[in-house]
Amino acid sequence: MAARARGSVRALLAALLAPALLSLLVSPARGRGGRGHGDWDPVRVPPLPPREDAARVARFVTNLCDWGVLATVSSLEAVRGQPFADVLSLSDGPPGAGSGEPYFYLSPLQLTANNLQENPHATLTMSLAQTDFCRKHGFDPQSPLCAHIIMSGTVTKVNETETDFAKNSLFTRHPEMKTWPSSHNWFFAKLNITNIWVLDFFGGPKIVTPEEYYNVTFQ
Ligand SMILES: *[C@@H]1O[C@H](CO)[C@@H](O)[C@H](O)[C@H]1NC(C)=O
Ligand SMILES: *[C@@H]1O[C@H](CO)[C@@H](O)[C@H](O)[C@H]1NC(C)=O
Ligand SMILES: *[C@@H]1O[C@H](CO)[C@@H](O)[C@H](O)[C@H]1NC(C)=O
Repeated sequence: MAARARGSVRALLAALLAPALLSLLVSPARGRGGRGHGDWDPVRVPPLPPREDAARVARFVTNLCDWGVLATVSSLEAVRGQPFADVLSLSDGPPGAGSGEPYFYLSPLQLTANNLQENPHATLTMSLAQTDFCRKHGFDPQSPLCAHIIMSGTVTKVNETETDFAKNSLFTRHPEMKTWPSSHNWFFAKLNITNIWVLDFFGGPKIVTPEEYYNVTFQ
């Protein structure tokens, strides 16, 4: 009786798990690129650069992240002048070949864009918590070991010379953007970085200058 019950539980579990297992087997390994954010193959997350090279760690985090949280100063009557944060998709270029410039695709319909219109100052934070890196190592998102960076500056529209690069950077990693309604008047923008803080170990944030940050090259 008990054995039969155990057997049927096993059968039920097998029936429930089969589709999941099957989809694991048949679905192609999802890479980066706007789909399945954060659950791509951990084997493909390259190793963190050496901690002594905080500028390189910052560039690494920027390039791995598909999105970040941008804090602006609110222009909404109810919370005017108060901090206001929202999730934004971003890209600094192709995986492994980022420019370091966090590009955004914004619409005047967004609260964030309205805030920026009044006050372009903003702070962006990006965390490897969105990849498998922290889960795999058992690092809580708030732990400095779960590498994350904070960057302040002003958000500016991308000029014509830079538009193609911004567009290609964003659309290859967020293919869905191509289908966003043109009636929303999307435009390309980026954070003009003035200050960078890197959290990747205990002992407080490391300060990286924009010069050090943009000086990093990837082979
Ligand atoms: C466009 O922006 C880039 C990057 O900020 C800059 O190097 C370039 O000089 C700008 N081009 C024009 C025409 O303003
Ligand atoms: C970027 O910020 C620096 C420092 O505040 C400023 O001098 C520069 O004009 C800004 N560049 C753009 C394109 O807004
Ligand atoms: C830029 O990189 C070179 C080569 O890695 C290094 O020697 C130099 O100190 C760096 N400069 C800055 C400002 O980070």
